[in-house]
Amino acid sequence: MIIRSLTLLVLAVVAIGCSGLQAPLNPAGPSARSIAWLTWTFFTICGVVYAVTLSALIWAVMRRRRDEDDSPRTSRRLGTVVGAATAVTVMTLVVLTISSIVAGRGLTTPSGAGAVVIDAIGHQWWWEFNYQDVAPSDWVNSPNELHLPAGVPVVIRALSRDVIHSFWVPNLQGKRDLIPGILTYLWLQADQPGEYRGQCAEFCGPQHAHMAFRVVVQPVGEFQEWLRQQRQSAASPASAEAQHGQDVFMQSTCRTCHTIRGTEAGSRVGPELTHVGSRRSIAAEALPNDRTSLTTWIRNAQLVKPGSRMPPNPLSETDLKAVVAYIQGLR
Ligand code: CUA
Repeated sequence: MIIRSLTLLVLAVVAIGCSGLQAPLNPAGPSARSIAWLTWTFFTICGVVYAVTLSALIWAVMRRRRDEDDSPRTSRRLGTVVGAATAVTVMTLVVLTISSIVAGRGLTTPSGAGAVVIDAIGHQWWWEFNYQDVAPSDWVNSPNELHLPAGVPVVIRALSRDVIHSFWVPNLQGKRDLIPGILTYLWLQADQPGEYRGQCAEFCGPQHAHMAFRVVVQPVGEFQEWLRQQRQSAASPASAEAQHGQDVFMQSTCRTCHTIRGTEAGSRVGPELTHVGSRRSIAAEALPNDRTSLTTWIRNAQLVKPGSRMPPNPLSETDLKAVVAYIQGLR
């Protein structure tokens, strides 16, 4: 029974934690490695303690009483055993404490110079990532998609515009709360190019579970190229349909919430859409970024994320199709 439970526990930990795009035991950077190392250290030591304690308990329950149990010699021996067990317990606690301190230092001390600073702003229920360059005109805003240069330390300056959220990319670092009115910091670094999933880790309302983001780690050159591309103003509509879509966008409620740089839409209530067509998903990872999802989302986002601030848009089929064509062209 015990062995079966232990086996199931180990299998569950392995299945949940060891693989995938959102897995603390599949570390892809120095901070996450510290956390994974600490997890396994605690798991191993506590597993051994559990096994030894249970074995002693089983032995004690199964053992028959003997005549010599009350003798002074047995009492002395028991005193020695209890003393030794206490010493081992204290040593174990000291080892666990030191491991925790060592791992904790790795989480708060950035390694290497020339860190990239990115603002992570939490909204109900989406993420805003700001890349702040020298001139404000060069700032890049990338909703729900965090691009990182591989092998470069990154400092995340986290804040919230409404309630408390929590920034968590399990493969790269532990959690950090986003608190309204207070700047919090964390640093992380991704070793290799790849994609990971981040998730809000603090309950922040009915769509908390749909507050995820994608982390795209790129080689440094590719990352710089992405930044350069994101700095450009929005592409002009490439077809008559997309042009009609832009007209509808600018005349309807869309423009009162979103920014599309290079046009008259400049509100920051909702995510910036200047390069929305280049993103992999929409609605904070709730839907893939394709024609069907965009149509569903624009027509009535409340069906996908009830309570979100995106209102239903009673557009005609022609207008809706045109808006989707326009949005898809914003690459
Ligand atoms: Cu934001 Cu949970």
